[in-house]
Amino acid sequence: MLPFNNDTLNQNKILQSTAASYLMPFVTKQIYDPDGIFLGINAYHDTLVFINPFTVRNSNINILGVSGAGKSVTAKTLATRMYMRGTQIIIIDPEGEYIEFAKNLGGEVIQFSRDNGINPFSLQTDTREEVLDHITILKTFFKFFIPPAKYDSAVLDQALISLYESKKRNFDTFLKTLGKSEMVDYLKVLNTGSLQGIFNAKRELTLDNDLIVFDISPLGDSEKKAPAMYLLTSLIWQLVNKKSDRKRMLFIDEAHKLLIDREVAIFYREMVKQARKRNLGVVSITQDVEDFLHGEFGKAILTNSETKILLKQSYATLSLMGNIFPMTDEERQQLGSLGIGELVLFRENEHMRADILVLPSEEQYVFPKK
Ligand SMILES: Nc1ncnc2c1ncn2[C@@H]1O[C@H](COP(=O)(O)OP(=O)(O)O)[C@@H](O)[C@H]1O
Ligand SMILES: [Mg+2]
Repeated sequence: MLPFNNDTLNQNKILQSTAASYLMPFVTKQIYDPDGIFLGINAYHDTLVFINPFTVRNSNINILGVSGAGKSVTAKTLATRMYMRGTQIIIIDPEGEYIEFAKNLGGEVIQFSRDNGINPFSLQTDTREEVLDHITILKTFFKFFIPPAKYDSAVLDQALISLYESKKRNFDTFLKTLGKSEMVDYLKVLNTGSLQGIFNAKRELTLDNDLIVFDISPLGDSEKKAPAMYLLTSLIWQLVNKKSDRKRMLFIDEAHKLLIDREVAIFYREMVKQARKRNLGVVSITQDVEDFLHGEFGKAILTNSETKILLKQSYATLSLMGNIFPMTDEERQQLGSLGIGELVLFRENEHMRADILVLPSEEQYVFPKK
């Protein structure tokens, strides 16, 4: 077997070309969807990597990596390229990282603050089924504000049902309908307390623009962001369910925030599982990989995402990753020392090392101005 070219055996055998090709150990994995979007460069032989996120099984993407590894830049690069191909891009942006991006591309930025909120009770049509679905969303949303011991599902249910019968769908009426229930004390914060304006405004959610960023960074701390993320995601999902006439990508940055509460996590998993039927891909972006690797819901979201982009990982998580991402020990070590924008791409059963390449014409959109 050594390459000395001495034939000491002198026994000839004819090999077919396929068999002969196995003697060439220089084959590396390549991922190339002819009708896909450009992702970057194969790190081993500099060929171009194209992926089409809309696959037969699902169109979901995970982007995982430590802080500063290049997750947001990767997300913006993918979003730009899909947007150019006519996919609607919707982004839930907890840190205000996508505002410039959307504005430069002519998209719409919906900023959440006390002066600019939404009406969580609004419903565009009134079929019984939709009303009941919406009530489920609201009940989970209110759980963020009511301590478990005080939370009374049946009372909320009744109050919401009569609210939707009454047609006067706003916070004042809702709190009145709740009557003497102790829950009113906890929900008041949304109507007249420190969160007023955010969730008791008149605005209805619509998805008209081709590129929409929901900037929830003005909400400040995580306590307010998590309920807002849940409410927005579930309202968007409701709209997508009603009208799935076009290809859409929903980017959720800091997606681990949707795994904290069990009911929210169940919703998130179901959305990810059913998204393909509605022409939707969900892009989950997070630096808290552990949250996804440990819990059953996080794991289900990972396994229901056909495209996984692993940027630099912390050494502490590497041993856990092997269970979900099949790779060699060497590859796992590599994950701990990747540079910015360097990644391991997983797709179906294939995986490969690649580098994101931001084209000069895209830099103005993708890189934040200092
Ligand atoms: N593919 C890339 N090529 C060049 N620079 C990059 C790339 N990805 C990220 N960067 C740089 O690294 C910084 C951090 O990237 P970012 O996407 O914000 O990280 P994360 O979202 O993972 O915290 C960016 O501001 C950008 O300057
Ligand atoms: Mg980021």
